[in-house]
Amino acid sequence: MSFNEATNAVDAIMETIAETMHKGESVTLVGFGSFVVQERKARNGHNSATGGSMLIPAKRQVKFRPGSKISILRDKETGTNEFRKLVEEIAMLEGFEALSDLPTEDVEIETPIETCMTPMISGRKLAIVPILRAGLGMVPGVLSLVPTAKVGHIGMYRNEETHEPVPYYCKLPHPIEERTIVVTDPMLATGGSAVDAIDQIKKVGGKQIKFMCIIAAPEGVEKLHKAHPDVQIYIGHLDRELNADAYICPGLGDAGDRIFGTK
Ligand code: PRP
Ligand code: URA
Repeated sequence: MSFNEATNAVDAIMETIAETMHKGESVTLVGFGSFVVQERKARNGHNSATGGSMLIPAKRQVKFRPGSKISILRDKETGTNEFRKLVEEIAMLEGFEALSDLPTEDVEIETPIETCMTPMISGRKLAIVPILRAGLGMVPGVLSLVPTAKVGHIGMYRNEETHEPVPYYCKLPHPIEERTIVVTDPMLATGGSAVDAIDQIKKVGGKQIKFMCIIAAPEGVEKLHKAHPDVQIYIGHLDRELNADAYICPGLGDAGDRIFGTK
């Protein structure tokens, strides 16, 4: 199918959808974005005699909809291999949103046709910092978007009784103050680990920090936002609450154990 034929086919599908909807209703087409139904106008600006509806983009941004991937992650029957792959894919989808404001620089590329200047994200300006262990599972997804990014590591585990974070390792790329830093951890539960990790990064000069998680509890979002209001938080799904053991409900269980098969 040629590009024009494909475009016409998509237009025809859009028209069919528009005819079944009412003015002002909206629809999200995965991969194409959100659209709102509007009355069709004739070329001179008046409503056409034949009437009819059309879909116009509600906003240009493509919506991040990792819904079913997160549902499969939650399933206790999902095995280690699939779990790991899904964490990577979700991190990539989330990274697409989180990194959309990263500065680019024009580089010269020779295509098979000619030489051109074309934008490229500068990997030197990005540091990915997973919180060990579970945050490691998200790194390949973000690296697939910016393969030249530097990777730091912050080691931390939660004390099972107090639920307080216990830091055990920190190695960050230099110079950290010039980079956008993306901290990854699939779970934002009490928020203690994320707050402590970001404290450590700021202590050595990190300034421009984003936090990416897959599942968050409201308690964790509140704590992180209070402690670090300057940090942009990206969440795959906001869950209901924490239970008495500070696990996220409904959650997905222990992310580290499920990624690494240690239980
Ligand atoms: C998990 C998770 C976060 C932390 C979240 O790590 O990966 O780092 O708990 O909880 P919080 O928001 O209450 O601090 P865990 O302690 O299980 O360590 P692991 O990744 O090594 O398994
Ligand atoms: N850490 C996890 O891995 N899961 C939770 O639900 C809470 C903390």
